[in-house]
Amino acid sequence: MQIVKMDNQGRGITYYNDKIVFVNNALPLEDVDISITLDKKKYSVASVTKYNKISNFRIKPKCKYYGICGGCQLEHITYTDELDYKTNYLNDIFKSLGVKTDRIITNKDYNYRDKITLKVNKCIGFYKLNSNDIISIDKCIIADNLINDKIKYLKLIDTTNIKEIIIKSFDSKSMLVLNGSNDIDISKISKYFDTIYINNRLVSGNRIIATIDNIKYYIAPNGFFQVNISIAEMMFKYIKKLCVNKKVERILDLYCGCGSISLFIADSVKYVYGVELNKESIKDANNNKKLNNITNVDFSCDTTDNIDNISSFDTVIVDPPRSGLSKKVIQKLLSSKIKNIIYVSCDPITLKRDLTYLKDKYNIESITTFDMFPNTYHVENVVTLTRISP
Ligand SMILES: C[S@@+](CC[C@H](N)C(=O)[O-])C[C@H]1O[C@@H](n2cnc3c(N)ncnc32)[C@H](O)[C@@H]1O
Repeated sequence: MQIVKMDNQGRGITYYNDKIVFVNNALPLEDVDISITLDKKKYSVASVTKYNKISNFRIKPKCKYYGICGGCQLEHITYTDELDYKTNYLNDIFKSLGVKTDRIITNKDYNYRDKITLKVNKCIGFYKLNSNDIISIDKCIIADNLINDKIKYLKLIDTTNIKEIIIKSFDSKSMLVLNGSNDIDISKISKYFDTIYINNRLVSGNRIIATIDNIKYYIAPNGFFQVNISIAEMMFKYIKKLCVNKKVERILDLYCGCGSISLFIADSVKYVYGVELNKESIKDANNNKKLNNITNVDFSCDTTDNIDNISSFDTVIVDPPRSGLSKKVIQKLLSSKIKNIIYVSCDPITLKRDLTYLKDKYNIESITTFDMFPNTYHVENVVTLTRISP
């Protein structure tokens, strides 16, 4: 089978009996034998059983688990080719909107993740590609060095009552989160981690803190925090600069998490109001506000569907989960008088869907891409929109 092109999940595309087939670990112009692993009415997914002709773009992956582990999809091309591939597929997605990404901002392509989530079932590791089986791992080369240094201690734990293990690393401190039943013995490993949680309960050490530029954030065991802190810093600085350039004063920060963006931009604007559904995150947002002595920010624990009176703000930042904005939120933005929207998105498909609605009343001024997740097909985009008419 000849691979025609790549899809936006890093898979090769070929056709068999007029049906599209997505082939893992296959590059354009490669000739491969395949084995179908999933057969649906409209498409199939396949693995390569033999490479008959190999692309000139293919390189040897650095990770020993590549192709088996489901975590990374793009280690078989150089980082430069990965960035070209991401730019091209994004521009393909946004083509019908008449816009392009203006640049892709990058930093480290390995050792960038400040969090890994390991699954436990007889062994400790990541899900295998397209499977709920687990591949045991002793190293993850996209995770930062401190996390990798700690993985070896996990074999000291009795995992009988554990379903999931999270390791986080911020400001040279390590956090271990053990999710499962409450009956977990940590006596053999407690000395190797700065902080340990069982489920959401702190059982050893003190809370750890992440510093981004000069702002400090408490890190929650199970709440959201950006996974690539150096790219997050670049993205937050970019958003802050947008606010300064646009002379914005009152900002509504929807899906604000633990206040990461709200608190980062607070010194450049008059007032920020953050809205977040997760109770623990809002508790931390208020703790983080105190930690940084910031007074011009307030937070509310609510669904963004309930936001009202938004026309008192000149700018809205939205940073929704992958599912994007709800119809209610889009409707409220369209019928508001908000001048600027800054849309932070980790899913280009739902982003495009939402922009298609928003462009009724908003010009898409720019799309800037941040390579938050190198070696995977995921990217983060920041879109600026300005109101066309009142
Ligand atoms: C991608 S995270 C962004 C967090 C934050 N902006 C940051 O940079 O750390 C999305 C956040 O939206 C929250 N969320 C999901 N659905 C929501 C809803 N309907 N209303 C408010 N917040 C929601 C999640 O709990 C999560 O914290």
